[in-house]
Amino acid sequence: VSAPRRIPLRRGRSVQELIREQGLPEGLLNTLPGDPGRKYQLGGAVAYEPLLNHLDVSTFYFGEIGVGTPPQNFLVIFDTGSANLWVPSTYCQSPACEDHARFNHSLSSTFLGSDATYTLSYGFGDVSVVLGRDTVTIQNITLSNQELGLSLDEPSTPFSSLGFDGILGMAYPGVAIPGFPTLLQNLVQQEQLSKPVFSFSFSRNPTYNYGGEVILGGVDPQLFSGEVFWAPVIQELYWKIGIEGFSVGLEVTGWCSQGCHGIVDTGTFLLTVPGPFMPALLQALGAQDSDQGFLVDCGSIPKMPTLYFAIAGAWLPLPPSVYVLQNDGICTVGVESTYVSSGSSQPLWILGNLFLRQYYSIFDVANNRVGFATASSGCEHHPRGILALE
Ligand SMILES: *[C@@H]1O[C@H](CO)[C@@H](O)[C@H](O)[C@H]1NC(C)=O
Ligand SMILES: *[C@@H]1O[C@H](CO)[C@@H](O)[C@H](O)[C@H]1NC(C)=O
Repeated sequence: VSAPRRIPLRRGRSVQELIREQGLPEGLLNTLPGDPGRKYQLGGAVAYEPLLNHLDVSTFYFGEIGVGTPPQNFLVIFDTGSANLWVPSTYCQSPACEDHARFNHSLSSTFLGSDATYTLSYGFGDVSVVLGRDTVTIQNITLSNQELGLSLDEPSTPFSSLGFDGILGMAYPGVAIPGFPTLLQNLVQQEQLSKPVFSFSFSRNPTYNYGGEVILGGVDPQLFSGEVFWAPVIQELYWKIGIEGFSVGLEVTGWCSQGCHGIVDTGTFLLTVPGPFMPALLQALGAQDSDQGFLVDCGSIPKMPTLYFAIAGAWLPLPPSVYVLQNDGICTVGVESTYVSSGSSQPLWILGNLFLRQYYSIFDVANNRVGFATASSGCEHHPRGILALE
């Protein structure tokens, strides 16, 4: 058992940036992003409705892991919104795989194969995999016999243009391929973590080479300030928590008066809003729907309202300097909508990277709770600050 491991995350380019450089890949408009809630297996009736596509949705944060002996290196998203680990493999001959690092099992002395195949679904596309086991290294952590998917096929759209190779899921085993321990379960079972906790810090001003950090086995108090607010996980599938209220500026909406749910998802970039609330939210923010996203005048950002989420007994502010994205002089509100509802009919939000840039997030595996604290680089100027709920 050893000290927490810090894994630097890089920020990949967004699809919009790639399109600017390379032109629009054929078919992209029809397949990206889909409904960002599509990947969740929430049970019960799920209403799925295709949405208008706004392209500035897929900026991802990823870090490096090794697979096999000796390790072959891959860039993966540390994704709290899924639970499987997969990497591209030499089984896959599609152009998307050839564009990425591919695992060659023949070069690993510790590889064990199988003939079990699965399809894994994500908000941005599906990948088919065959399962195998091998050693996985993350910084100084060495996990033996980790189950992982080796891709058999990856569609060119969108995988060719994505800056990462694979995905390392950190959600609960209930949404993983059944019967195999997840990487998190192995980390705990093989006593690789000093504490069964991991935490994320996403940079407010990410560059291509540095986007933040994931810390396995602990928290870094230098990366946040003030109190940590702990929200219990309400269903141990995703890191799903309760949202007790939502306010635009000082005006509390009634949207969450019966309670809302929020999935804390490091694999989603934007703030995802329950579909029925989108028109009213955009109106309150003065945003115009367009091909480029939900446009606002860049000059009006200082006058725009702060959004507040009531979580764990506190109002957590999200100021316009965080939820408005500026790109080449164009300002858009960093929201998208989902029509997937929580299994229990509560409106469902997805608290993605945009929210998590403002809040250092701590995932407490032993106590099934998520902690939020103002990120050190977070904006300190907002009218209410973090206030306890009355
Ligand atoms: C990883 O191992 C190296 C060499 O053993 C050591 O110098 C370094 O401090 C370790 N890093 C962490 C984060 O544990
Ligand atoms: C995988 O490694 C083996 C052994 O070195 C080699 O023969 C094979 O060509 C490699 N496969 C690919 C697709 O690179």
